[in-house]
Amino acid sequence: MIVATKQLFAHAYGKYALGAYNINNLEQIMGLFKGNIDSRAPFIIQLSKGARSYTDKRMLEAMIRAAEEVFPEAVFAVHLDHGDEKTCYECIDSGFYSSVMIDASHDPFEENIAITRRVVERAHAKGISVEAELGMLGGVEEDIQVDEKNALLTDPDEAKEFVERSGCDSLACAIGTSHGAYKFSGNQGLHFGRIEAIQKEIPGVPLVMHGSSSVPPEEVEAINASGGKLKEGAKGVDPNQYLPAAKLGVCKVNIDTDGRLVWTRVHRQYFQDKPEEFDLRGPGKLFMAEYAKFIASRNELLGSAGQLDDVREFLKGQ
Ligand code: G3H
Ligand code: 13P
Ligand code: ZN
Repeated sequence: MIVATKQLFAHAYGKYALGAYNINNLEQIMGLFKGNIDSRAPFIIQLSKGARSYTDKRMLEAMIRAAEEVFPEAVFAVHLDHGDEKTCYECIDSGFYSSVMIDASHDPFEENIAITRRVVERAHAKGISVEAELGMLGGVEEDIQVDEKNALLTDPDEAKEFVERSGCDSLACAIGTSHGAYKFSGNQGLHFGRIEAIQKEIPGVPLVMHGSSSVPPEEVEAINASGGKLKEGAKGVDPNQYLPAAKLGVCKVNIDTDGRLVWTRVHRQYFQDKPEEFDLRGPGKLFMAEYAKFIASRNELLGSAGQLDDVREFLKGQ
């Protein structure tokens, strides 16, 4: 059942975080739904611009609709990840999305507010909620390179002004993470002090953590042992920090890279072990099972595992 992102946030706020998982193809969709049902978790399925144009956005939408029928118990929201203004309008008008993200974080503050405000007006008129971003994450964000050294954490006072003036429903904050497999060097990690300070300024506003993959070392090792060349120093967020962050209002935790690592490990190992093989269904089946396991394990750490029945009850009262 596709539901409003806002409703999922209202259920989760301050208690647990929803996994927001990026998908691109059929196998990811099947593994994602299975993992969420196995762990009894509500979730957010998110589509980036790149995912929407990988085959055809209509293919993705049709597969998600089909998954809704194949897994009738699933409770989830559909979200546009890192949208520009034009793509946001396209998704709002399509009637398929529960929420959109307008990412104008690379624009100056006033411009970011103005663009977000325009998207909010169009989205709210259709009951769709809007995630906006303030602050700069390190690493790669769609096509924009931001030097990690210049990564700018979100300023709590600016966050308050931004939310008030833009009218956005949730806020993606820079709190120490970056996209991709190389997030931290040394002992860096989440800036809990900053999350707390932001929550104090905008209590009740769902916060979003981008760049949340954990980049499991055993996954990186397995990939490299089967012919991969991921650089040393691949390091992600400690997944044991998801729940403490959730208690401070982080309601949505974006995970993409980790799923790509599962895909890479499964396929590399499969073809290394079976060099004579050329049937795509063998590794595909293995990937779906492994991805489902991964999703369930993440939901346990996010605290969303086991919330499905409760969220269904909650939605009845909405
Ligand atoms: O934050 C970006 C997401 O990981 C999506 O990546 O634009 O390559 O689909 P993508
Ligand atoms: P990761 O690269 O850490 O998986 O982050 C994904 C993300 O933020 C999608 O918006
Ligand atoms: Zn992101």
